[in-house]
Amino acid sequence: MKPVIRDRPDVPIAVSPADTDVPEGSATSATGLPASGQRPDAVAECRSVSLAAVNGSHRIQILRQVDFSIADGEFVCILGPSGCGKSTILNAISGVRLPGPLNGEILLKGKPRRPYDSDVAYMVQHDTLLPWRTTRQNVQLAADLRKVTVDVDHLLASVGLSEFADFFPAQLSGGMRKRAQLARVLAQHPRLLLMDEPFGALDFQTRNDIYEVFLDRWLEFKCGVAFVTHDLTEAITLADRILVMSRRPATIVKEFTVDLPRPRRQRELIKRDDYRDLHEALWEALSGVEADQPSAPSDLHEPDRAEQGRKEQLT
Ligand SMILES: Nc1ncnc2c1ncn2[C@@H]1O[C@H](COP(=O)(O)OP(=O)(O)OP(=O)(O)O)[C@@H](O)[C@H]1O
Ligand SMILES: [Mg+2]
Repeated sequence: MKPVIRDRPDVPIAVSPADTDVPEGSATSATGLPASGQRPDAVAECRSVSLAAVNGSHRIQILRQVDFSIADGEFVCILGPSGCGKSTILNAISGVRLPGPLNGEILLKGKPRRPYDSDVAYMVQHDTLLPWRTTRQNVQLAADLRKVTVDVDHLLASVGLSEFADFFPAQLSGGMRKRAQLARVLAQHPRLLLMDEPFGALDFQTRNDIYEVFLDRWLEFKCGVAFVTHDLTEAITLADRILVMSRRPATIVKEFTVDLPRPRRQRELIKRDDYRDLHEALWEALSGVEADQPSAPSDLHEPDRAEQGRKEQLT
């Protein structure tokens, strides 16, 4: 079976200079995209979302006319080159502070999103466990803040942390801290779960164990998920749909439907022809994104952040 790929032909992968600036207050899609951004069953919708970071006199266009939706219970993975704006789009959906004004619309369950919506849980890219609370207390606090009743010990057992419930984050390994963070977002019983490369730093075995735990839990309560990753295999294992973003200023250039049966186990998946076809198609899509994109003119005055970081480390 061939993978279902939806090109977004009206959004060229190579961005011309004129495309990078979006007029203030623009709320309609210049891409004229079809229904993907507007679905009646959507738990989250981004409609023509554009965003520029303003740092003094520097202005960096990060997102450009991003259109997509996540249906209730749908698992959507977002792939794209490093620095393109994947974390920024999750931040925008979650309503946390953004580096500049946002154009377009973000709707949660059909209504303009409010910051700290209790139906949204966000597992950010960095470690955010509270160091002065034990594993159990960290998870319990998340449930308490959302006023949800949860059997925290059962949840910790399901992510393999029973023995470490009374440990503090500094006493846990990196993989254990990720599991604790996973338990913490699951404890919130969200309708929309935002996850930013949650398992990127884990070794192969730990990651596989976590996929199984996570997918089993997700199949139980089936919320909408937006999951950012760099890992093609991870995306295919988890997603119902995969969105590929261009380089910055980022927009969605391709969309893949993952029509593989669940429950999914990587070991079985990799033996399937349709898995290999999809992997190949994703690889090609991402290679196109990496190779074809000229640098955006709005970046011409951007200081070299990597160089700056190196200098800071040396001083
Ligand atoms: N507060 C900010 N001020 C200025 N620029 C910012 C700010 N936050 C993000 N950016 C810029 O926005 C761009 C996108 O950043 P973002 O963190 O969303 O990328 P990403 O796709 O998640 O990258 P990675 O895969 O490396 O995590 C980067 O060029 C980054 O430097
Ligand atoms: Mg990121």
